[in-house]
Amino acid sequence: MSKSFDSAGLTFRQDYFDDRAAWAALVSLLGDTFGIDIGPLQQLGGPDPTSMPFGWFAAGNTLAANLSAFAMPLVVNGRQINAAAFQSGAVRPPWRGRGLYRDVTCKALEWCESRQFEAIVLYTDKPLLYEPYGFRSLPMHRYCGAAPKPYSAGKPARELDPLNKADLALLQEALKTRTPVSDVLAVSGSAAMFLINTQLDPEVRLSWLDAEKAVIAWKAGKSGRFGLLDVVATEIPPLAVILGRLGEGPEQVDVFFSPDKLDWRGEALAFDSGTAFMVRSTTDLAPASPAMLSPMADF
Ligand SMILES: CC(C)(COP(=O)(O)OP(=O)(O)OC[C@H]1O[C@@H](n2cnc3c(N)ncnc32)[C@H](O)[C@@H]1OP(=O)(O)O)[C@@H](O)C(=O)NCCC(=O)NCCS
Repeated sequence: MSKSFDSAGLTFRQDYFDDRAAWAALVSLLGDTFGIDIGPLQQLGGPDPTSMPFGWFAAGNTLAANLSAFAMPLVVNGRQINAAAFQSGAVRPPWRGRGLYRDVTCKALEWCESRQFEAIVLYTDKPLLYEPYGFRSLPMHRYCGAAPKPYSAGKPARELDPLNKADLALLQEALKTRTPVSDVLAVSGSAAMFLINTQLDPEVRLSWLDAEKAVIAWKAGKSGRFGLLDVVATEIPPLAVILGRLGEGPEQVDVFFSPDKLDWRGEALAFDSGTAFMVRSTTDLAPASPAMLSPMADF
C-alpha cells in the first residue's frame, strides 16, 4: 500500500477534536456525505475520548478527507477483545480519486498497530474498499420469536431523555458500569456511540427500570411487534421483566443482539441493513452462534 497520493494544497492533521473549528469541519463533512448530524455529541459528553481522527484540511477549514479510529473493546464468545474501530471515513467529491482515502486508511492502520489492538472493526456499504487491507465481512443476525408473558409486578419504567441533564448523568453512569448485553458478541463500553445513536434515529426510545437499574433501548414495531435494541445494566434482566416494566404486551419480539442473557429464545434471522460489519484480526473472531452488535453500538 505504498502508492502515491496527491495532497496538493492540503494540510494533514490528526488528533484535532480539541480544535472547535476542526470539529465543526468534521460535523460538516459527515452531514454533507452521509446526511447525519453528530453535532449533538458535544451536549452528550463529547466524542469517544480515545478517538484519533486523521484528516486532510483545505483552506478555510474545509475537511477534504477523513478517517477516525477509536478503541472499541468487545466481548466475543466470552472473551474480552482489545479492539479498535474505524468511523467517519469520507472524502469530499472535489478531492476524490487522488489516493487521500488510501493515505488516511494507512495512517489509521499504523496507529492501531502501534497500539497493538487485537482487531479492528468497521461498518461500510463498500466492503470492497477495505478487503485489500485484510478486512472480512461477518454476517449479522437478529432474533425473532413469540414474546414471553410480561412479568408485570413492580414499578413501571420511566422514559429517559439524553438531552435532559439528570437523565444524561444517569445514562452515563449506567454506561460506565454496564456488563456486555451478550457474551456472544457485544461492546464492553462505547458510551459515546450509544448516546449519539439515541439522537440519530428518532424512533429509538429509552426507558429506565428503577429496581433493575437498567436502561432499555427499544422501538415499538409495527403490528404488535416489539424491537429490543440494547440493555445497559450491571445485570441483564429477563425479557419478561423488561416487557412487564415497559407495559408492553407484544405478540412478537425482535432482538437486535444475541439474546443469551435474556432468558428467552428466538429464531436467528440474517440481518441485512445494507451495511457490512467487517473485522480485521489475526485471530478468528467469528461469533460461536448467530449474533450482531447492538444497533446502539453502530458507528
Ligand atoms: C469511498 C471514498 C472514501 C473513496 O475516496 P477516494 O478519495 O476516491 O479514495 P482513494 O482515491 O484514496 O482510493 C483508495 C482506493 O479505494 C478504491 N476505491 C475508491 N472508491 C471505491 C469504491 N466505491 N469501492 C471500492 N473501492 C473504491 C480506489 O480504487 C483505490 O484503490 P487502490 O488503493 O487500489 O488504488 C469516497 O468516494 C467517499 O467519501 N464516498 C462517500 C462516503 C463513503 O462511502 N465512505 C466510505 C465507506 S464507509
